[in-house]
Amino acid sequence: MKAIILVGGEGTRLRPLTYSTVKAMVPVLNKPFIEYVIRHLVNHNVKEVILALGYKPDAITNHFADVHQLDARLVYNVEARPLGTAGAVKNAERYIDETFFVLNGDVFTDINLGDMLQFHKNKGAKVTIALTPVEDPSRFGVVETDSRKRVIRFIEKPKPGQSTSNMINAGIYIIESDILRRIPAGRYIMFEHDIFPALLAEGEPVFGYETNAYWIDMGTPEQYLQLNRDLMFGKSTQVQFREQDICIDEQSSVHPEAKLTAPILVGRDCIISHGVWLKGPVVIGAGCRIHDGAIISNSILWQDVTIGAQASLEDCIVASNNHIEDKAHIAGAAINKARATKQS
Ligand code: GDD
Ligand code: MG
Repeated sequence: MKAIILVGGEGTRLRPLTYSTVKAMVPVLNKPFIEYVIRHLVNHNVKEVILALGYKPDAITNHFADVHQLDARLVYNVEARPLGTAGAVKNAERYIDETFFVLNGDVFTDINLGDMLQFHKNKGAKVTIALTPVEDPSRFGVVETDSRKRVIRFIEKPKPGQSTSNMINAGIYIIESDILRRIPAGRYIMFEHDIFPALLAEGEPVFGYETNAYWIDMGTPEQYLQLNRDLMFGKSTQVQFREQDICIDEQSSVHPEAKLTAPILVGRDCIISHGVWLKGPVVIGAGCRIHDGAIISNSILWQDVTIGAQASLEDCIVASNNHIEDKAHIAGAAINKARATKQS
């Protein structure tokens, strides 16, 4: 089977982190996010992955030019301008000849795609939408179903009290290829606002596949931090990290009088100095320098970050090439001093 991953936007809600990288490439346990999504598809027998790319496609295509071990054929389909979720899929129509998956490119999930496909076939659905429960549905698209799991209503980003359900669109669809004919070409069209409601209005069989598998949309700094933390605490079957693990790359050095509290992951070429305290969960990317007496807790540093002596960071994300001053005390911040650059 084939899958289309929607890798459209800059990731506005992840700013300022996305000033220097695109959302799909943000590091999760020191690997680009999109790699996990592709590996999950490959593990469920998807052999061809079409990346529907909008914003700064080179950041992704250049990365995969160097990565060959993914066991999937990657196709890049670049949009000259944003076409919306359904428009981006329509734009990839020439690669599609059978039932296919569509995935939002910012969702990490352990969903069993094989089981979802079986459900789709058993129901005779034209479209199956994966549904996941969330505490606060207001940031998502709520999907209401009847007792047979047929979709009866969509409420995108509901106001409090507007919806009776906490089952939301998980951003994973199985679609029959003839649905593509109904999407107008070359226009900005969304599945969520335009195509799915139209299919319901016409009585087409659209079903909701409920899953309790691990699921998170990592499109905000809080959710991104949460994803890294969850993976370190072993909440996903895709990552073999355990909460008692302290993994330091062999090419990094840790002063004997630094204190390490698990879970911790440190990439290559890092120097952790005297008196530093890493209070996990902490992820440190390649080439970071942590100076004497700094304390870092529940935080993520990308690459080539320096943390000044006696500084403290708590619940922070620091983008690549940033420097934190000596004795700075920072909590709950996403830090990136790089300026926004315009799309080339
Ligand atoms: N190629 C392409 N072109 N991709 C796009 C475009 C576009 O014009 N617009 C959005 N995307 C991609 C985004 O990059 C992201 O991977 C995915 O489509 C969803 O867009 P978001 O901007 O992250 O949407 P959201 O999180 O507010 O809401 C969507 O996802 C929720 C689940 O996480 C909706 O589908 C909700 O209904 C859903 O609950
Ligand atoms: Mg999202």
